[in-house]
Amino acid sequence: MNSHQTRKRLVIGNWKMHGHQAANASLLDGLCAGVPAVQDCDLAVCVPFPYLGQAHASLQGSGITWGAQDVSKHEQGAFTGEVSAGMLSDFACQWVLAGHSERRTLHGETDQLVAEKAVAALNAGITPVVCVGETLAEQEAGQTDQVIARQLAPVLALGAQQVGKMVIAYEPVWAIGTGRTATPEQAQAVHAFIRSQLAGLGVPEVRVLYGGSVKASNAGSLFAMSDIDGALVGGASLMAEEFLRIAAA
Ligand code: 13P
Repeated sequence: MNSHQTRKRLVIGNWKMHGHQAANASLLDGLCAGVPAVQDCDLAVCVPFPYLGQAHASLQGSGITWGAQDVSKHEQGAFTGEVSAGMLSDFACQWVLAGHSERRTLHGETDQLVAEKAVAALNAGITPVVCVGETLAEQEAGQTDQVIARQLAPVLALGAQQVGKMVIAYEPVWAIGTGRTATPEQAQAVHAFIRSQLAGLGVPEVRVLYGGSVKASNAGSLFAMSDIDGALVGGASLMAEEFLRIAAA
């Protein structure tokens, strides 16, 4: 059996800070209408916090699952502006992104904090999608593996039982929103490295997604790679038809 038969594909849309109720309604309706044609692939959307209720109401029973883009490491308390994993659970979230590069860069999230957020999610029964990826300067300096290993270290330190319940997303920072996708071979090399780290811990079957300018036109060649189990999609997840075409690829 090849590895892709044991790891079901997963395509997650990260809406980032886009949308409003009317636009979301037509996007969610479009996804619900098209999802029956998507086979052998788990499909999910990570929406802004205020729209979790809307996603819950629209997607319930559709086969598409939903989640958030960030979570507090704290369970509750005086943390103005923060949202807990328990609150996400209240909206039946199945997923939460942890350590997206925009959070790491713009909000100073550290590798350690990202691991703590992943734990908070797991404690609430939510699957953390831990995002890692190098910047252009790091890639050009030949430091990709080193950076990924550093980012993953506090996560892997949580042990096989915890990591076995996670999803990892490799998103090279230089490919996010730039239209510059890693080539399938470039992405595969990093995914193989991440897979070797997971295998070292005894959890080689954790799904590893690729993110960074994924579109319907390049999804097929990325998904053909043996260690790429799906995608974390930004811009192209805001168009129902394009997003469904990625999932069908
Ligand atoms: P784009 O698909 O818009 O490049 O964004 C990727 C991303 O950051 C998904 O989390």
